[in-house]
Amino acid sequence: MASTPTHNLNKVTNPENPPTRHGLAGAVPKPSKAKPLTWLFGIFCTLLSSAIIIAGLTVLIIYLIFRPRSPHLFISGATLNAGHIDTDMGIYLNADLTILANFSNPNHKVNIFFSYIELDLYFNNTLIAAQAIPGFSERAGETVLRSLHMVTSEVVIGEAKANGWWKQVNENKIAMEVRGRFRTRSDFGTLLHITYWLYSHCSIVLSDPPGGVLLSSSCRTKR
Ligand SMILES: *[C@@H]1O[C@H](CO)[C@@H](O)[C@H](O)[C@H]1NC(C)=O
Ligand SMILES: *[C@@H]1O[C@H](CO)[C@@H](O)[C@H](O)[C@H]1NC(C)=O
Repeated sequence: MASTPTHNLNKVTNPENPPTRHGLAGAVPKPSKAKPLTWLFGIFCTLLSSAIIIAGLTVLIIYLIFRPRSPHLFISGATLNAGHIDTDMGIYLNADLTILANFSNPNHKVNIFFSYIELDLYFNNTLIAAQAIPGFSERAGETVLRSLHMVTSEVVIGEAKANGWWKQVNENKIAMEVRGRFRTRSDFGTLLHITYWLYSHCSIVLSDPPGGVLLSSSCRTKR
C-alpha cells in the first residue's frame, strides 16, 4: 500500500519536470545514446550504397571509354617442310612445320602485354610439338607476327592415327591443330591493368610434305 503512492508520485513528477529543464544526469544520455547509432548506421548504409553505385558507374565509364576487346591469334601462314611415319620399331610420327602466327590487338585504346606464350601442335588430338615464345607488348591496333618452328621427332602414334595420316596424305589434306595459351595483360591507360589467361584453338589444313602449303585455317580465341 505504501509503495504504490510513491510510484505514482514519481510518474507524475517526471513529466511535470522535464529532464532538460533541470538537467537531470540520469535521464539525458538515454535518448542521445540510441540516436548516434542509428545515425551512424544510416550514414554507413548511404556511404556503402554510394560506393557501390560509384564503382558500378566507374566500370561502366571505363568500359564505354576503352571498349575492351580480346586479342586474337591467326595463323597467317604455314609450311609442312617434312612429315612421315616411321614404322621400323613401332609407329612414330616425324614432322617439321613452320607457322607464321599473327597476334593482333583489335583495341583502339587498350595496349596488350603477353608475358607468356605457348603454342602446342596436335595431330588428331595427340600432342606432337610445343613451342614457347618470349613475351612482347602490342599497342592498340598493332599486329605482331612470329615465326615458329615446330619439330616432331619420333612421337608415338597408334595404328589408327597412322592410318588417318596416310589417308590424309592420299587426299593431299593434312589436318592439324594449334592450341595456344597466353598470359595476357590489358593496360587501360597507365593506372588500370587486368591480367588473365587467353586460349586459342586453330584448325589448320596443309597439303602434303615436303613444301606442304596452308590450305585453310580458322581460329577461336577465348578466356
Ligand atoms: C594479321 O591479322 C590482322 C588482323 O586480322 C590482319 O589485318 C593482318 O593482315 C594479318 N597479317 C598478316 C601478315 O596476315
Ligand atoms: C583420329 O584417331 C582415331 C583413333 O584414336 C581414329 O579412329 C580416327 O579415324 C582419327 N581421325 C582422323 C581424322 O584421322
